[in-house]
Amino acid sequence: MRRKIVAGNWKMNTLPAEGLELARAIVAKRRETGPSVELIVCPPFTHLSEVVKATRGEGVAVGAQNCAAEEKGAYTGEVSAAMLAALGVEYVILGHSERREYYGETSDTLNRKLAMAYANRLVPIYCVGEKLEERESGRHFDVVGAQLREVVYNLSPEQFSSLIVAYEPVWAIGTGKTATSEQAQEMHAYIRRTLAEKFGAAAEHTPILYGGSCKPSNAQELFAKPDVDGGLIGGAALEADSFIGIGKSF
Ligand code: PGA
Repeated sequence: MRRKIVAGNWKMNTLPAEGLELARAIVAKRRETGPSVELIVCPPFTHLSEVVKATRGEGVAVGAQNCAAEEKGAYTGEVSAAMLAALGVEYVILGHSERREYYGETSDTLNRKLAMAYANRLVPIYCVGEKLEERESGRHFDVVGAQLREVVYNLSPEQFSSLIVAYEPVWAIGTGKTATSEQAQEMHAYIRRTLAEKFGAAAEHTPILYGGSCKPSNAQELFAKPDVDGGLIGGAALEADSFIGIGKSF
């Protein structure tokens, strides 16, 4: 049995007080999902400290949305993995398509960020996914394969054993256009096969989350697929009811 995970990527939304309220509302409803489903919330940096306190011991883990590629020093505006770990943060989203697209993150950047995360005992949620034109030209497997080989293949078997992968087709993020459950399963199976080529049977245990307009109304069909182990949720993670509703969809 693989882990079942629903992670909320709040992106650049909510003010600190609103984020704290959202975290508390999720904690209040947490039991509705049952204990076998793991919940992770990923608020903006400014809310992490308060959200860690509000969720501690409540069965809701906290992740950051990014971390620096360097350890420390003269990197104005950056937040290091060590700083996040010191707050009690356990996860970090790395390689989100918005970071790749708007902030120029490459496989090289991401190799360094993953190394920093592991050095500080943060578990990376590593995002992969193709753009619309890449899917339409039939290159989606090649694109996702390269995102895995250029980064995940550099991990040690021990590092790989804790990794979480998220498949997020860029054309489905924030567009209301979800991948069909067949498209998701096809890609998730490809991701698992690609991981198995390098890491063997350990890939059977890797949680692979789907992201892109996932909501309570489509989560059940997606999560029913054998290689879809949960979701990385954007818009629908900003309300406790819909986030928990997705958590109840296994
Ligand atoms: P969405 O975002 O659920 O709003 O499409 C998902 C994500 O970008 O992680």
